[in-house]
Amino acid sequence: MVKKKWFSLTLISMLVIGLLAACGTSNDKENASEGNAGGKEEKKVLTMGTSADYPPFEYIDTAKGDEIIGFDADLAKAITKELGYEVKIVDMDFNGLIPAIQAGKVDFVMAGMTPTPEREKSVDFSEPYYITKNLIVIKKDSGIKTVEDLKGKTVGVQVGTIQEEKANEIKKTVDMKVENRNRIPEIIQEMNSNRFDAAIIEDVVAKNYFAKDKNLTGFEVPDAAKKGSAVAFPNDSKLKADFDRVLNEMKESGELDKLIEKWFSGEQPAK
Ligand code: ARG
Repeated sequence: MVKKKWFSLTLISMLVIGLLAACGTSNDKENASEGNAGGKEEKKVLTMGTSADYPPFEYIDTAKGDEIIGFDADLAKAITKELGYEVKIVDMDFNGLIPAIQAGKVDFVMAGMTPTPEREKSVDFSEPYYITKNLIVIKKDSGIKTVEDLKGKTVGVQVGTIQEEKANEIKKTVDMKVENRNRIPEIIQEMNSNRFDAAIIEDVVAKNYFAKDKNLTGFEVPDAAKKGSAVAFPNDSKLKADFDRVLNEMKESGELDKLIEKWFSGEQPAK
């Protein structure tokens, strides 16, 4: 009799443990499935698309390895970790990032990308997490001091960026030539070999090149509106709300400022 009681007690506790374990699994599944657009298959890893030509936002320090590092990489890791995901970062040309979201090849994009009405037709954006302005980058001995001085000059921009848009807008009033390249280092190279007279590049990225290349300098594009970088998601992705929540927590806790300090020496042109 006693034996039988023990037996059933053991059986019950085994059942209870089994049930608890089952609950745990189904919860995990729910959380993980939020990561993919259809929500059908399980996913613990989120794929992030970026264009790793953009120090200090994202770049590969070839002296140290082939890992994509930078402000966006750190921020992506912090947010996804908080949400219980791992992140895999894939590199492609900036121009291919929105198509990659639309084709379901990436779960989100962080690439110093500025929300624009045009882009908002194809993707959803998080709250902005860093503010920048555009600079006209020139050689110190170029004699170019104003936008009007760009008359007759060749100006380089990255394909598919708001800098390209800006250059085409300036071109309407200043008779200059606009040329584009897929990657920022190509633009710098063209400047150094005198094929480009100037370029339009985001301030923190340009300043990063000024520090290395003493021939280069720049001035602000007049009336340049401040633009925020934001995370891009597929339309109606559930991730947007999660990312916004964590971004706000990080803004309040000072964690975002710490990353800004680390990668931009605390410089926040928005203020
Ligand atoms: N902020 C600009 C834009 O959204 C340029 C971003 C370029 N990013 C990059 N990783 N190359 O158009």
